[in-house]
Amino acid sequence: MIIVLSGAPGAGKGTQADLLVSDQGYRKVSTGDALRNQIKAKSALGLEAEGYMKEGKLVPDHLLFKVLTAELEANKGRTILLDGYPRNVNQAKTLANLGGESQVRACVHLDVGQVELVARLSGRRVCGACGASYHVEYAPPGDGDKCTKCGGGVVQRPDDAADKVAVRLDVYQRETMPVLDFYMGAGIYKRVDGARETNIVFGDLKKVIEGLAKA
Ligand code: AP5
Ligand code: MG
Repeated sequence: MIIVLSGAPGAGKGTQADLLVSDQGYRKVSTGDALRNQIKAKSALGLEAEGYMKEGKLVPDHLLFKVLTAELEANKGRTILLDGYPRNVNQAKTLANLGGESQVRACVHLDVGQVELVARLSGRRVCGACGASYHVEYAPPGDGDKCTKCGGGVVQRPDDAADKVAVRLDVYQRETMPVLDFYMGAGIYKRVDGARETNIVFGDLKKVIEGLAKA
């Protein structure tokens, strides 16, 4: 079963997916993380994707199809939290057409306003070694600029620079918001107010997902 975790850049998709993974044993499939791994590995796909990501633009659908199908195959038979896909209506249709085990059970939208999104993205820091995510104010690493989990150096994601954030938020409004209408039309859209404290959002999200299992 797949649960799509949707929301703007900085809405907390990665943060909440990680919490759900440790608490519930679900699998997180993040297309952004998968693409960053491809870039690190200097694969052909990574090299092709890199320029788009640096600019805050969407990577072409045919590359995402390769990333998605490989990730779904690797997590077969598990409950998957899909973070970062679909990001346009074409991708939503592609996912729907996969059918079978890859059927989407719900699209949970972490809804956060623009001012808060910018504050979250501008203060985010990530570990260059293990990818753990922090925030200079809301969730600082324990030891200055060193990752609490692995001791690696903590840096700003290149696409969190102010001009790239503006592009990403614009792309989200134009291309990804229609995906929410797509899932509303399918009757599987759920909204969670993502603008509150991390643990409160987590509690709500957990209830929504537990409700799906009972339904
Ligand atoms: P991706 O990595 O998916 O980035 P994104 O969607 O822009 O989302 P973010 O990772 O920035 O935000 P998040 O919602 O995970 O927030 P987080 O939990 O970190 O994609 C990157 C790029 O890859 C795209 O721009 C595109 O180029 C490409 N790509 C990926 N998928 C694609 C696709 N399907 N098609 C085409 N291209 C694709 O939280 C953010 C910060 O806020 C953190 O510092 C965190 O500590 C803090 N925070 C989180 N929750 C709270 C809270 N409740 N209160 C206070 N602070 C909080
Ligand atoms: Mg993320």
